[in-house]
Amino acid sequence: MNIFLTGSTGFLGGEILVNLAKRKEVKKIYCLIRAKTEDESLFRLKKIFTLHNDSFDEKQIIPIIGNLSDPNLSKELSQNKNLKDVNVIIHSAANTSFSPIYDEMVENVNILGLNKILEWAKSLKTLKTFQYIGTATICGEGVSNRVVYEDESPNLNSKHFVKYTYTKMMGEIAIHNSLPADKILIARPSIIMGDSRNWVPRSYVILWALATGNLMRLVPVNPDSNLDIVPVDYTANAIVELLFAKRNHSVYHISAGTATVTTPFKLTRSFEDAFTDRPPFKFVNIEMISQMKNWAKGRLQPKSTLYQYTEYLEYWDKVFSDKRSLRILFAGLEPYLKFIQLGQIFDNSRLLQDTNVGNPEPAHEYIKRSVKYLENIDVFEGALDP
Ligand SMILES: NC(=O)c1ccc[n+]([C@@H]2O[C@H](COP(=O)([O-])OP(=O)(O)OC[C@H]3O[C@@H](n4cnc5c(N)ncnc54)[C@H](OP(=O)(O)O)[C@@H]3O)[C@@H](O)[C@H]2O)c1
Repeated sequence: MNIFLTGSTGFLGGEILVNLAKRKEVKKIYCLIRAKTEDESLFRLKKIFTLHNDSFDEKQIIPIIGNLSDPNLSKELSQNKNLKDVNVIIHSAANTSFSPIYDEMVENVNILGLNKILEWAKSLKTLKTFQYIGTATICGEGVSNRVVYEDESPNLNSKHFVKYTYTKMMGEIAIHNSLPADKILIARPSIIMGDSRNWVPRSYVILWALATGNLMRLVPVNPDSNLDIVPVDYTANAIVELLFAKRNHSVYHISAGTATVTTPFKLTRSFEDAFTDRPPFKFVNIEMISQMKNWAKGRLQPKSTLYQYTEYLEYWDKVFSDKRSLRILFAGLEPYLKFIQLGQIFDNSRLLQDTNVGNPEPAHEYIKRSVKYLENIDVFEGALDP
């Protein structure tokens, strides 16, 4: 099997690449990669393997320099003779930003960029499977506090907090409009956070939100909200297993499901004692975020209910000497809080029936092994591109 993979330098894509490289069924893996030179592309690929001392074989892993924003991408891929033997395309690349300032780029990469890959895929005679890494959150903000099933999406009537989930939904529609049903495989992970192995995760992407909450300690979210989180190693393995599985469906959630779903309370409880220099976690209503923002701006009304939490305000005064930095944190954290508040659980029975991956370990268990890395996270830098 020869695979073309996009997004291999990313959090999930890197794990997919290393996992694929270890499978005996996989001959070559062509990786679309942004780089100026061949040397740079090889350097970026090797780095993915050196992170956890995995062996890199230059004959197996082949860089294909390219950018999803390049208008000539489909033509370049079609004309590349090396790619004539590709049987599987795994499209993991995306712009995952939640910030509205990146909306145009998010559309450009996630919709127009995908269309370019599809344009090439349509002409690829050897293509057997096009696996798209979607997201379970394409169900939108109208679905809350219940189990969500694969067949509920894509739904053009759904409403979205952020452009990212909208573009991922439109991506699935574009795939269905471009390729025959028997070639389509869609994997929709829920929220991917950290790694369940006892080592440094490939990226701090969603751990950033946890590190931020851990610093704030007064968190405006429902502590008992369902929180469907999976570790990146489990997710990558499930994606690869689906490729080889005898599949009865074309769309699969990769999620905690009802068996291993967590909550903000369970998650924070599992590590709060590791940080003795901070007040205990306290959860308040999500509406309190606007008062928190006003406090950071120095405009909090004297009668505000936030003053009931003086212990935390004094603690914030100590930790955030520059209150502007706290405003940046609140702005970055807000979309995460809204997603958590939805309380969505993504049904994973299809994945459990058609593969042997089993349920993931609950986040409040595996996260204990990553707690030591929370201190490494620069929460202010992360807040600039949440
Ligand atoms: N993280 C989650 O919680 C989560 C949950 C559900 C689904 N997903 C899905 O999983 C996939 C991977 O997400 P991730 O968390 O691994 O994201 P990530 O760490 O941000 O990685 C994104 C990848 O896409 C590549 N990319 C972005 N723009 C590109 C462009 N213009 N041309 C070529 N490559 C480009 C990046 O390359 P560079 O290194 O060159 O920037 C990188 O390899 C996405 O499709 C996402 O929607 C993620």
